[in-house]
Amino acid sequence: MADPDQADKPHPIKHVAIIMDGNGRWAQQRNKPRVFGHKSGVQSVRRAVRYAGQLGIQALTLYAFSSENWRRPEAEVGVLMELFMTVLTSEVKRLHKNNVRLRIIGDISRFSDKLQHKIREAEAKTADNKGLLLNIAANYGGRWDVVDTAKRLAQQVKNGELDVNDIDETMFTNATCLAGVPDPDLMIRTGGDHRISNFLIWQAAYTEFYFTDTLWPDFDETVFEQAIQSFMQRERRFGCTGEQVQGTDA
Ligand code: IPE
Ligand code: IPE
Ligand code: MG
Repeated sequence: MADPDQADKPHPIKHVAIIMDGNGRWAQQRNKPRVFGHKSGVQSVRRAVRYAGQLGIQALTLYAFSSENWRRPEAEVGVLMELFMTVLTSEVKRLHKNNVRLRIIGDISRFSDKLQHKIREAEAKTADNKGLLLNIAANYGGRWDVVDTAKRLAQQVKNGELDVNDIDETMFTNATCLAGVPDPDLMIRTGGDHRISNFLIWQAAYTEFYFTDTLWPDFDETVFEQAIQSFMQRERRFGCTGEQVQGTDA
């Protein structure tokens, strides 16, 4: 198997986003507490990262904790926070070795100082890596991203640094937390639900969706490959006609 940084041919898919759903149900099916599912899901994260790296995909964005997930029972949220901390500690070395650049997207100010420090440390350690860009969305909400971007641009206008008429879609995109990363080509959601749950609502305007009933702890290379094969069979038209896209228009 090739190392992630040795994938030489660019993959037609530049960016994959995944809504990692179904941990709780996976655990419940085994008569275990929900948090057992979250812990088991870490193995699927490793598999997804490894496979994306092997394929030579540029960016993988994983939805780990939404801005709405604070509504869950305190005990579950607590375990999830502990899990972030342990996983960050244990995985960074491996990610670094595999040339992965790690970034956390979302409002991290709500996390403990210790966790924020860990996040910054992990990002700094891997900042110069040239392999896969791994974005972990934590306390992320698409609406938060849009509002946060609007606020920062408004502040620049207020400061006289920016003309309001210069704000366009490109500028807005380049001010969101995925600035510089191509929009996701493919978004996978595990766990059987067909919704976006406030994930990359701005960036997913033309993303192809793939839904699978597989619960996140069971997600593996086979399911990932099925999603990719499904994507490959689709025609992305971006508002044009099929003839235009195929170059057969008169
Ligand atoms: C996804 O699994 C992980 C998080 C949202 C943190 P869930 O915990 O939502 O699992 P289900 O959907 O309840 O099975
Ligand atoms: C989406 O899953 C968020 C993450 C996977 C982190 P949820 O389980 O929170 O989504 P809903 O509540 O079913 O829409
Ligand atoms: Mg869920």
